[in-house]
Amino acid sequence: MADKTPTPRSKRVIAFMNQKGGVGKTTTTVNLAGALAAAGRNTLLIDLDPQAHATLHVGVDPNTIERSVYDVLLDPALDPRAAIVKVRDNLSILPAQTDLAAAEGELTPVADRQKRLEAALAKLPEYEFVLIDCPPSLGLLTLNGLAAAREVIIPMQAHFLALQGVSKLLETIAMMSQAVNPRLRVTGVVLCMHDGNLMHSKEVVADLEGFFDSAREQQTPWRFARVLRPAIRRNIKLAECPSFGQTIFEYAPNAPGAADYRELASGLLAEWDAMLSRADAGAPEVVVPPTKVAASA
Ligand SMILES: Nc1ncnc2c1ncn2[C@@H]1O[C@H](COP(=O)(O)OP(=O)(O)OP(=O)(O)O)[C@@H](O)[C@H]1O
Ligand SMILES: [Mg+2]
Repeated sequence: MADKTPTPRSKRVIAFMNQKGGVGKTTTTVNLAGALAAAGRNTLLIDLDPQAHATLHVGVDPNTIERSVYDVLLDPALDPRAAIVKVRDNLSILPAQTDLAAAEGELTPVADRQKRLEAALAKLPEYEFVLIDCPPSLGLLTLNGLAAAREVIIPMQAHFLALQGVSKLLETIAMMSQAVNPRLRVTGVVLCMHDGNLMHSKEVVADLEGFFDSAREQQTPWRFARVLRPAIRRNIKLAECPSFGQTIFEYAPNAPGAADYRELASGLLAEWDAMLSRADAGAPEVVVPPTKVAASA
């Protein structure tokens, strides 16, 4: 669908990625997108998961749409706007259907198979924020997300085993940054379903912060990464709202889940706007300096 919003000066493309299932990727992508749209920023959600959870979460029935992200990935001549659905003020989605599962196999013989999404996004200057919900795997769909994105945000739960998964995921990001997308960087980790009072959670958060701090001097895509605040508390309203096709801000705007995602979005927005002002003032691009924050969420 054509959008009459003026072209923003800059575009922030963020992939929400973790190959572990059920960690809060879709919940975070959709509700952050909702918060950014509510703040007046023209936002595009991209559902790269054949489960189509982000699509359902914003109230689009994958069975009733004619085109989806599958068509955009498979047909580089297609105008991606033909598949985009405007769902709210300032919020559109490039939806998924279950046929997206076939895309990985169909794209395998294609030379630019990792860059199809990036090429489609280049045709969409009207969005200031593009939030990509990746599937729980490190396959070709996720690689398309990483090639198209400038930033990665890693939703995760503060469990010991989750830390092992993070190192595998960072290996994939390093590989993509070397081979395909040198500008890719990890903005940070969002702790989902978090209980900051548990000793176990506190230890995992401290380990994560220690890991990121120890990487500051190395030329890795995660040298500026941090544990983003606030952590998202466990809140049943967040689990309920997808079945109503609503974001948390529509379903339960006063719930703790709404407060947490609103605050997370405003922190990211403040950081983004500060970066743009520095760029306007002619300063060289500086990514957000790592901030030391207390381990309690
Ligand atoms: N903060 C929270 N409090 C309570 N429930 C939550 C919270 N965040 C997510 N959930 C619920 O946990 C489940 C998994 O979350 P979600 O679907 O966002 O994870 P995911 O990483 O996208 O999963 P998948 O890997 O299958 O795509 C969902 O039922 C979701 O509603
Ligand atoms: Mg998901």
